[in-house]
Amino acid sequence: MPETTPRALRGRLLSFGPGETHLYEPDGVIVIEAGTIAAVGPWQDTVLPPGTVVEDHGAKLIMPGFIDPHIHYPQCRMIASYGAQLIAWLDRYTFPAEQKFADPAYAESEAAWFLDELLRQGTTTACVYCTVHPESVEAFFTESERRGTCMIAGKVMMDRNAPAGLCDDAASGFTQSEALLRRWHGRGRQLYAITPRFAITSSPAQLQSAGALARAYPDAYVQTHLAENLAEIAEVRRLYPDDASYTAVYARAGLLGPRSLLGHCIHLGEDELTLLRENSAVAVFCPTSNLFLGSGLFDWARLAGAGVRVGLATDVGGGTSYSMLRTAAEAYKVLQLRGQALPAFAAFRAITRGNAEALRLEGRIGSLIPGYDADLVVLDTAATPAMRHRLEAVGDSLADELFMLMTMGDDRAVAATYVAGCRC
Ligand code: GUN
Ligand code: ZN
Repeated sequence: MPETTPRALRGRLLSFGPGETHLYEPDGVIVIEAGTIAAVGPWQDTVLPPGTVVEDHGAKLIMPGFIDPHIHYPQCRMIASYGAQLIAWLDRYTFPAEQKFADPAYAESEAAWFLDELLRQGTTTACVYCTVHPESVEAFFTESERRGTCMIAGKVMMDRNAPAGLCDDAASGFTQSEALLRRWHGRGRQLYAITPRFAITSSPAQLQSAGALARAYPDAYVQTHLAENLAEIAEVRRLYPDDASYTAVYARAGLLGPRSLLGHCIHLGEDELTLLRENSAVAVFCPTSNLFLGSGLFDWARLAGAGVRVGLATDVGGGTSYSMLRTAAEAYKVLQLRGQALPAFAAFRAITRGNAEALRLEGRIGSLIPGYDADLVVLDTAATPAMRHRLEAVGDSLADELFMLMTMGDDRAVAATYVAGCRC
């Protein structure tokens, strides 16, 4: 719950606004009232409301909390499982792990652990896949509401090519999803994502019914996976012989729109980029997952050049780290292999403001602006001996310091996280 006593955080402030703009305040203050940012400015020029409690973070960086637009909470006990690419990895590790979420008590304790871990890593908003079990969604939103976090989540819809215990059908998938959506979408800070897992595990009838739900609730999200792995794409072609492409399968079902988040988008033809752009859908780059599962190298310059919106996410448990700092560092390396750049300012923009824009939430979170929700992360660029040693040679270049932070940093660099003004 938001606190009523005004609180102020002093430190170095960094925030990104529209376009290329950013704010850097070497000795700044954020005033927080009732869970919201009331003022942002230089420490010496800011008049604090009477009774304000000040927390001084010194030379640490205060930024908007990180946003992770693609992650699976049921995969926290099979992250880092050895030796398989996508389809075998799903069969061998993922589906067995997800079957445990039929038990609501298990789902509750996993959701609680997951949310605590995200906050420990400085991530304050995420787009989260639950399992096919409605109880897994109920458990997740209940725990998120308890913490006051802004979370987007949904029930996975799957009606084929998965174990019987993980399958719904087109009718029950629709009914259960709609009931959860009506219960949770816009309740406090919780938002719903219609979540057909991917084209292989949904029949054409299920994709159509997911699309019908998206049309009926246009302010809800849609999340799914697209063009991650070559064997996956070949199987989609076999299952949907009448569609021109994988992306066309989702387009025909009515699943592409401005709140559609498509995980991976590695292997796409030109016509598919056109479909994504025309529908204002978001391609979500998941670098640690794409490397770990051997899926391929995301082509950010090509997608952005084609006018496709892009997000940057962990994809735990295909992804190997909960940290958005580690995710930014691996994104940099993937782009190096493609001869592309990811300067530190662009990376920190991507994991805050950029991902907020991907979620159409840039009017509430992702920047330090009065009126916005006070979801914040405090980062220590001298968190480890090796970082401290490197920092001594950085000089006064903020770009160099930030690049070192994303390249060497992880949860050890997260000094504090705030949700709606409350320290976690
Ligand atoms: N494609 C379908 N399901 C999944 C999943 O759980 N993880 C990843 N990385 N890809 C998928
Ligand atoms: Zn995924």
